Amino acid sequence: MLLPNQGATLADPATTSTDPQQSNGIDLQQQPKNKEESGLLSSITSNPYFSAGFGLIGVGAGLTLLRQGLTLGAGYLQRRLLVTLEIPSKDKSYLWFLQWMSQQAPKRGRLQHLAVETSYKQHDNGSISTTFGLVPGPGIHYFRWHGVWMKVQRQRDGKMMDLSTGSPWETITITTLSQDRKVFKELLSEAQEMALKKQEGKTVIYTSYGPEWRPFGMPRRRRLLDSVILDNGVKERIVEDVRAFIGNGKWYNERGIPYRRGYLLYGPPGSGKSSFIQSLAGELEYNICILNLSERGLTDDRLNHLLSNVPERSIMLLEDIDAAFTKRAQADNQGYQSMITFSGLLNALDGVASAEERIIFLTTNHVENLDAALIRPGRVDMKEFLGNATESQIRGMFSRFYGKDNKELEDAFFDRVKDRQISTASLQGHFVYFKDKPEEAVEQAELLWTQLM
Ligand SMILES: Nc1ncnc2c1ncn2[C@@H]1O[C@H](COP(=O)(O)OP(=O)(O)OP(=O)(O)O)[C@@H](O)[C@H]1O
Ligand SMILES: [Mg+2]
Repeated sequence: MLLPNQGATLADPATTSTDPQQSNGIDLQQQPKNKEESGLLSSITSNPYFSAGFGLIGVGAGLTLLRQGLTLGAGYLQRRLLVTLEIPSKDKSYLWFLQWMSQQAPKRGRLQHLAVETSYKQHDNGSISTTFGLVPGPGIHYFRWHGVWMKVQRQRDGKMMDLSTGSPWETITITTLSQDRKVFKELLSEAQEMALKKQEGKTVIYTSYGPEWRPFGMPRRRRLLDSVILDNGVKERIVEDVRAFIGNGKWYNERGIPYRRGYLLYGPPGSGKSSFIQSLAGELEYNICILNLSERGLTDDRLNHLLSNVPERSIMLLEDIDAAFTKRAQADNQGYQSMITFSGLLNALDGVASAEERIIFLTTNHVENLDAALIRPGRVDMKEFLGNATESQIRGMFSRFYGKDNKELEDAFFDRVKDRQISTASLQGHFVYFKDKPEEAVEQAELLWTQLM
């Protein structure tokens, strides 16, 4: 028997094939010309060194061929029999799928690697607690769903970074048999349904995160329209207008009008502008995308991109629209100044004429600072002033806090504050402070103007 080290030497093609005659085994076997030669042949073939080397080369070549064949075959089979679905981390379905799988997988397969995902839960009293969910970590997972086996690979690209978010680029690849391809669709819609169910009755607030929109915090419980008390008729006017707008895309399209509507709410701080928009979103079951124009690093391009990629069913909200362009903001150049230009903002507001519905709310405390171009019809179609508390608002807020049966106290309270300029936010502060104590709220009414609430 050959010793291992001899075998290794013989297997080396460089040593076994130095003589072309030797390596050409067929020639040697087919043409034994004379005794001497056949003697040579037999001595060669019987030479254990040669035959071992030759054999090993043969086996090596055979194996290579086999391996190539197998690879080809596997590639072919893979193409014919398997189907893969790729979900990049940029896609909405990505998180949906991860969450879905973390619910499914423990029942149907085994998750080898887990990753933690922190989430929040809002309780009835408004407090928030944290829960930790386990989602499939990077790696390969196998599981069975609706009788179909799937391989799920979560891959993190170490080199590629998603520059906008600073997180590593990831993809999930799901592989299954070609004949089962229809499960992908079912699976994705189930994941989507599950994710949306979690948001039911909630308002999702999105903020810009680089060039994209990301949910900000957890979905909030919907704010009720009733909880915001505006002057007579204001709320109804806006709600009616928005309702008339939604679902009327055909009307706009037929007339060649871009399907969007802009609203401007202006007035002093604490008059309920932001709260009203939140309650409107709740009423319509819409989400809100908030963009701060004085955000650092915001450029015309990003602004444009953000405004043309608003998540569906959401209200676009640009707060303090004046702040980005007033002289004050230009002057204190502390690095917080965004880089958008006024024309950039106008262009972004106009956007590409798309068929997609767009509802934009602008708010400001200083309507007088706004350029006429910004609030011309087409950009802003409806303007509403939300001012300090009017009689109906004072009374409305009082009865909201202390009930409708406190008419006398309500009158007394109104009498005390009617000649003052008081914001609805201050009223709220006052009533919260004198919670369940309407008499004291009336007695101490002067706190509203002697103290900052
Ligand atoms: N009209 C109102 N009805 C009920 N609550 C109000 C009203 N106005 C203000 N509030 C309460 O006061 C607080 C501040 O209101 P909000 O943020 O909506 O004011 P705003 O008009 O957006 O102010 P700013 O101009 O400073 O952004 C909120 O907690 C809100 O509930
Ligand atoms: Mg506000």
